Order: sequence, then structure tokens, then C-alpha cells
Amino acid sequence: MDKQEIIEMEQSYVLGVYSRPPFVLERGEGCTLYDTDGKAYLDCVSGIAVNALGYGDAGINQAIAEAAATGILHVSNLYHTAPHARLAKLLCETSFADKVHFSLSGADANEGAFKFARRYAREKGHQDKYHILAFSNAFHGRLFGSLAATPRPKYQEPFEPLMPGVRFAEFNNLESARAQMDEQVCAIIVEPIQGEGGIHPATPEFLRGLRALADEYDALLIYDEVQCGVGRTGTLWAYQGYADGDEAAVAPDILTAAKPLAGGLPIGAILMRQKVADAMHKGDHASTFAGNPFTTHVAHHVVSRIADPQFLAGVQRKGKLFVDLLEELNSPHIQEIRGKGLLIGVEMDMDVTPLISQAYEEGLILVNAGPTVLRFIPPLIISEAEIQRAVETVGKLLQRL
Ligand SMILES: Cc1ncc(COP(=O)(O)O)c(C=O)c1O
Repeated sequence: MDKQEIIEMEQSYVLGVYSRPPFVLERGEGCTLYDTDGKAYLDCVSGIAVNALGYGDAGINQAIAEAAATGILHVSNLYHTAPHARLAKLLCETSFADKVHFSLSGADANEGAFKFARRYAREKGHQDKYHILAFSNAFHGRLFGSLAATPRPKYQEPFEPLMPGVRFAEFNNLESARAQMDEQVCAIIVEPIQGEGGIHPATPEFLRGLRALADEYDALLIYDEVQCGVGRTGTLWAYQGYADGDEAAVAPDILTAAKPLAGGLPIGAILMRQKVADAMHKGDHASTFAGNPFTTHVAHHVVSRIADPQFLAGVQRKGKLFVDLLEELNSPHIQEIRGKGLLIGVEMDMDVTPLISQAYEEGLILVNAGPTVLRFIPPLIISEAEIQRAVETVGKLLQRL
């Protein structure tokens, strides 16, 4: 089948909720993707912050082979399996958490987190404590609960009514959060670094203040680290980069993760403190595929590699290089460069859609984060030479404007 036939078949049979560029990706190696014409693209998107170890990784391939060799792709959560237990232990040992529950995606993890928060409040005897406080510009997913906490009319309005009981405050504004807080709020959900909303890091004071506010009202603090977690910002968990010697002052009660956890296989996780786990009882939540032994075996390999302090130091170093080189471009079209580690947003003075199309022609895959923000979320294994090449290409495109 040639490229045109594939594109036409997809357009005929696949629901058209995405706009796709006019090439067909076929294989990948390291940080490079190749299309069906053999053209190479340097990937600065990683399947939207998923492929942290790039493409064709030997370690992931080995983990897949090991998992496949057991003959068990799936058994129900009704049974014990070792990979499931091992991954949960690793996630707890590398974070604030005491217990983990697996899910299938980021949105699914957030839905679970909301249920756990409501259950926690009910367990304490509060029947009316079911509200969720979320923030302007947030993105928590496209299911009915997670979408209710994602304040974008374009995404929400066609599907209303959504989950009731969600209220909003202004991101990075503690007074605004305090004004929305009362005894009915069972959870505060926040992205330590907003991803889809344009790469906006929370300030340390904001996260500390939310921690204190949640404690004051016995509400749970949920960090949505679906995009910023698992090494993306140069610490295994983004909140750890805010600790400044006092992790307890910023650690959440629940953390949701997904995207890169299994290097490209679908998985999500809800990390929680013991007090949250204690409120959940047998039969309270379930999912057929979540935490299956195949995916969790691969995820254990991925998380172990990323949790290595040397790997994380490399992410920090490369993130700094990326930002330094972008600044050196000195382009009048760049308004601001934001982010942390390899989660970088460049606010432009224009709609970035044409730039992204031109980058494809130059063999560079980029994505936006809102209309005017170019987002750089490459595989965490990107080399310094590849970073230089990516920024040089962007510089060339900006000079043509
Ligand atoms: C912060 C955040 N939360 C949740 C989600 C939803 O994750 P998923 O697409 O896996 O449902 C995303 C997806 O981009 C995200 O960036």
C-alpha cells in the first residue's frame, strides 16, 4: 500500500477527530522516526511525552520479549502476578506513596483519583464533601470527570452535563484558591507543571500553599503528573523538584501518572498515601486490563532506568542546553521560554501551526501547547547534537518569517 492509499483508508474508516500531517510513520530508532518514503524526522514530541526512551530501545525490547515468553499477556486482576507487585513497590519506594492502583490512561487515573477522594470524605462521615477544586488552564483528560476538571468550553460544551461538583480557581493564585475552598471540597487537583495549557510551572509557594490549604480542610491534594511525571522535568516526580529539602511541605496525597510509564504501552497509575488506601474497600474500583503483567513488566524496566540519578541529571543538563540554545536564537518572535527539564514551551507572538507544518518539511516533529506555544517534549534520551539540530532548524524557520 502506498502512502496515499493508507491516508485515504484511514480517512474512510477512522473517526475524524484528529488532523494528521500528510505522511505515514513506519518505524523508529532512537529519537528518529521514518516515514513510508524513508524520510527521517527528529522527534521532539515523543508521542506527546510518552516515548521517554525513544524508539527501538534494546532494553524495552528485551523486557517485551521476557514478558511475552511467559505466555501471559493478561490475567485478570482477580489473580496475583509478580510484575504487578514489583512495579507498585518501585513506584512507592521512589515517591511519597504507600499504595498504587493501576489504570489504563491519564484520564482514567484522574477519574480514579476523584473517586478515591470522594470515598475518603464519605469514610470520614462527610456526605456533602464531594467537590473538586481545579485550576484555570488545566488539562486532566477527556472522560466525564476529568473533562469536568478541564475548563475549556470547546471540549466541554458539546458533552454537557459533565460530572457535577467541580469548581475552579486561578492557577498560581493562592488567594483565588482559598476563596474557593470550603468544607464541601474533598480534593484539590493541580498539574505541578501545566502541559496542554501552555507549559506553565506552578510556583513553589503555590504548591506549598495548596498543601497547607488541603490539610486545613482535610481535603486531598492530587498532583496530575500525567505529562510532567516520570523523569520529564529532571526529577522522577515533578513535585520532588519543588521539595527544596522539605518534601513533606509539597508532597501530595494522590499522584496520577501515565504517558511514559511503560515506554509506549498504555498504562496509568494512581499513587496514594495509606490514609487514602484505607478508605477504599474490596470492590470499590476495578478495571479489566489495568496493571496487567505484560505492561507492568515493561513499565518496571522503564521506570528503573529513568529513576537512575545519572539519567535524571542528564535530563536536567539537556533541558538547560535546550533552553540556552533557544534563548541564543534571540528571535523577536519568541516572547517567553518556560518549563523544566525536557518539558519546554516557547511562547511565540503568532499562531504556531504553520511553523509546525514547515518543521515537518525540514524533518523535525514538533507540537503546540495552545495556539501560540511551541512545545518541546523529546524522548529523554535525546543527545546534545540532536538538541542542537532541533534548535538550528527552529532558528532557520524563524528567520524565514
Ligand atoms: C496533565 C494531563 N492529565 C491527563 C491527561 C490525559 O491523559 P490520557 O490522554 O492518557 O487520558 C493528559 C494528556 O495529555 C495530560 O497532559
